[in-house]
Amino acid sequence: MAKPSTRHVCQSCGYVSVRWLGRCPSCGEWNSFVEETLQKSSGGVRAPFQSVAKPIGEWSKEDSARVGTGFANLDAALGGGLVPGQVVLIAGQPGIGKSTLLLQVSDRFSGKVLYVSGEESGTQIAVRGSRLGIGKRDIVIYPETNLERIEEVLESNDPDLLVLDSVQTIYSDKLESSSGSVSQVREVAYRITEICKSKGLPVFIVGQITKEGNIAGPKVLEHIVDTVLQFEGERFNFYRVVKVVKNRFGSTGEVAVFKMGDRGLEEVEEPSAFFISERRSSPGSVVFPHTEGSKPILLEVQALVLPALYTTPQRKTQGFDVNRLSLILAILEKEANIFTRDSDVFVNVAGGLTVKEPAVDLAVAVAIASSKKDSKVWEDLVVFGELGLGGEVRAVHFGDIRLKEAKRFGFKRAIVPKGAEMGVEGMEVFSVSSVGEVVDLLF
Ligand SMILES: Nc1ncnc2c1ncn2[C@@H]1O[C@H](COP(=O)(O)OP(=O)(O)OP(=O)(O)O)[C@@H](O)[C@H]1O
Ligand SMILES: [Mg+2]
Repeated sequence: MAKPSTRHVCQSCGYVSVRWLGRCPSCGEWNSFVEETLQKSSGGVRAPFQSVAKPIGEWSKEDSARVGTGFANLDAALGGGLVPGQVVLIAGQPGIGKSTLLLQVSDRFSGKVLYVSGEESGTQIAVRGSRLGIGKRDIVIYPETNLERIEEVLESNDPDLLVLDSVQTIYSDKLESSSGSVSQVREVAYRITEICKSKGLPVFIVGQITKEGNIAGPKVLEHIVDTVLQFEGERFNFYRVVKVVKNRFGSTGEVAVFKMGDRGLEEVEEPSAFFISERRSSPGSVVFPHTEGSKPILLEVQALVLPALYTTPQRKTQGFDVNRLSLILAILEKEANIFTRDSDVFVNVAGGLTVKEPAVDLAVAVAIASSKKDSKVWEDLVVFGELGLGGEVRAVHFGDIRLKEAKRFGFKRAIVPKGAEMGVEGMEVFSVSSVGEVVDLLF
């Protein structure tokens, strides 16, 4: 028998090398190479499902076949529920509530569910189920880590929804590398995807994440699946946000907000009310109407500026890019005479949501100026706009949607980018073109 060939695979990005390397030339990670044994048979024995080639006009355009997850907000974020054969990867920090959410979805789902757990025993899941008040007979729990056996049970059980918790714990006999390795994760994801596509079976795959917050395993995992959901929130707080990072069947950036309680996750119908509920109008606090998907959410941006404790001033953020913060501080200094080089600066997006859209720039700048000057902004004010390096305020998308949401929650004034004319009846809108103008207006 031929000796199985080995190769070294970067566990961070999947780069393959014939010899061991200290640093990955592709992603720059140190000490990430692991020797994996590869047997030739891998992948070669797949029975691909049959498809046909036909003109675009002859394919069915029916999108009505979507099925609900049992959570209206999750369905809306997914673009109207699950599509047959849809492969959804759900990733999040340990203990955030991935298994809880999927057990609840399994309970509320209208058809037969097969819940495969490679992480927990049947008893553990049953105990969680009884705590959550779940007792539906249709959920079949299958604690198993071997892919071949899972395939067999999948065949005989013939469910309407599959849950795989988690992809990193499942392994195939065809590969010799250990479970969780790049090759195994890729193999498991490919094979499950193939089966689910051929059967039209939707599947939720749980993915663990690395300490940096990226989905563990090869980048290709995110390419294989149709949809990537990111489960966010602070573990010790009760709010949880499911963000749609990638979706082949709907728009990205959509979010579903939940509250974690004794009985599991509950939908939050009015996320805006929820995120600004604890707001106390004080220096450094500004409300930002956020929108990444189609739904606006009011968020509170908080900044704290105080004399530096050590020689090197600290810049710390939560829910906001720390490099972007440095940029905003530089712009504030150059264009608005707000000096923070001898100060510690902390910025926090209250509620545990991570905001990546540039429209938050101006709100962050105003929060910093407000804290530095120890002066509150108007209580009924919302602020949005992207900042350019020259201190100019740039237009952003969904101005009207943001303003309407602000008005709905009783906000009466808004600072917005000049250019795109927007306005909502009953709101005073200040259109600005530079950050200096905003600081002059407010302080
Ligand atoms: N008895 C309890 N009462 C209330 N909440 C609980 C209880 N037990 C667990 N929880 C909540 O459930 C969370 C754990 O959820 P879950 O096991 O679904 O997380 P997970 O994302 O699947 O974690 P892992 O990555 O370890 O699989 C806890 O962080 C806690 O918030
Ligand atoms: Mg879990």
